[in-house]
Amino acid sequence: MPRRSVSALLAGFCLVSAAAPSLADPPVPKAAASVLNRIKAADSNLLAVSEEDGRFLRFLVVSSGAKRVLEIGGANGYSAIWIGLGLRETGGRLVTIEYDAARAKDAEANIRAAGLADVVQVVSGDAFKAIPGLPGTFDMVFLDAWKKDYQRFFDLVFPRLDNGGIFVAHNVVNKAAEMGDFLTTLRTHPGLRSAIVSPSGEGISVSVKRQER
Ligand SMILES: C[S@@+](CC[C@H](N)C(=O)[O-])C[C@H]1O[C@@H](n2cnc3c(N)ncnc32)[C@H](O)[C@@H]1O
Repeated sequence: MPRRSVSALLAGFCLVSAAAPSLADPPVPKAAASVLNRIKAADSNLLAVSEEDGRFLRFLVVSSGAKRVLEIGGANGYSAIWIGLGLRETGGRLVTIEYDAARAKDAEANIRAAGLADVVQVVSGDAFKAIPGLPGTFDMVFLDAWKKDYQRFFDLVFPRLDNGGIFVAHNVVNKAAEMGDFLTTLRTHPGLRSAIVSPSGEGISVSVKRQER
């Protein structure tokens, strides 16, 4: 899409780019690193987030102290492993939902091989149907399903997000044109404060839920 229309969609956001992982990034355990490399090598459909974005998700979990995390759109488990590594440090848990049964099965095997089976639970099925059946609230939600569904997922999950919790969405830069309604919500919703970071050009929105005035 033309550069100007992306800028128009993103106008009003604090936009941050970063080229490299933080120097203070802790090492990735050997088993997890080898699974992450294997998923990337087999990812011919380019479903997984970039490595930079994965590292940022891990950082977000640790820096926010998130403990009850929901991922919508888990694919083969790449981002779930990065989030799981952060949760290993905070003592939290992730539920990741994946529509495609074969991918969900693969994600489960990958997460087990990465040593994170006690941290990450994979739910196979349609997240629109699965989320209402999950217990409790979330302190972090990571949305990476089909882009046209972002607004509907936001509407479904926002009431279940704790005050002070973060709603995180992927591809808000490189697929901004497919989610104009959602980006407008991020810009105008009185109960959110949002920024966009772009560690690899795909773009991640981070929105903190705050009390509506
Ligand atoms: C871009 S990929 C996710 C990549 C993953 N987050 C990662 O980085 O490894 C999007 C995934 O969302 C899944 N998806 C789309 N709509 C969904 C829905 N309604 N419920 C659950 N999963 C969905 C697709 O099957 C696809 O595997």
